[in-house]
Amino acid sequence: MIAARGLGWSVDGRIILRNIDLEVRDGETLALVGPSGSGKTSLIRILGMLNTDYEGRVTIDGSDIRSGNMALRRSMAMVFQKPVVFSMSVYENVAYGLRLRRVPKYEIDARVKEVLALLDMSGKEKEYARHLSGGEAQRIAFARAYVVKPKVLFLDEPTANLDRHNVAIIEKAVKDINDRYGTTVVMVTHSLAQAKRLADRIGVMIDGELVEVGGVSDILERPSDPRAKAFVSGDMVF
Ligand SMILES: Nc1ncnc2c1ncn2[C@@H]1O[C@H](COP(=O)(O)OP(=O)(O)O)[C@@H](O)[C@H]1O
Ligand SMILES: [Mg+2]
Repeated sequence: MIAARGLGWSVDGRIILRNIDLEVRDGETLALVGPSGSGKTSLIRILGMLNTDYEGRVTIDGSDIRSGNMALRRSMAMVFQKPVVFSMSVYENVAYGLRLRRVPKYEIDARVKEVLALLDMSGKEKEYARHLSGGEAQRIAFARAYVVKPKVLFLDEPTANLDRHNVAIIEKAVKDINDRYGTTVVMVTHSLAQAKRLADRIGVMIDGELVEVGGVSDILERPSDPRAKAFVSGDMVF
């Protein structure tokens, strides 16, 4: 469904991403792991149409994402490591994408209610989102992405700063959107345990390169690339 070919990105002559070929399958959950600074965020930002300044080509269902197509953009959602909430109520935060898409009000009400229940935020509709705790704010950022039922959900270390309770709620919601709507999930995580819990396949990034992509047990138990092996066995300092 998503295909990247010969993807590269440099800043001021410094190579950040090098010749990446990647296929993300329709409906799968793909985890991207690798040391800090290996280019995971840079890659997911390109795939999620937040950076168009790259070399190579990325297509989604055959359409080049550089076409600037609004329908493509609206078929994606992203959640970042730091929770992003708008200066409005919890309800309005979650309803935001649905209003943009001109969803009827009764349907907005129903969908916001459902997703708030899933993220254990029922009853907080009227709270000002900026006053929420970090974990609650991230749940709202996730709810805002979830509620539009994107075809592709990009997650960049969404649980990196959260405690176990919040991690569990968000992981449940990732599974839920993937199971119920067949949403394709591309997630960056620093946690191999999380990749194991959520992903179908894992891609290992080292130093701007995607060195190996494979099934979860292949990557975690018998990686073939020596750098992937060093990373998953913990021999690589990061
Ligand atoms: N906008 C940018 N300008 C310059 N350097 C950047 C920019 N974004 C990322 N980098 C550099 O690219 C490398 C990879 O960063 P990043 O993609 O954030 O890695 P990761 O998410 O794997 O930790 C880092 O060395 C980082 O400093
Ligand atoms: Mg990152």
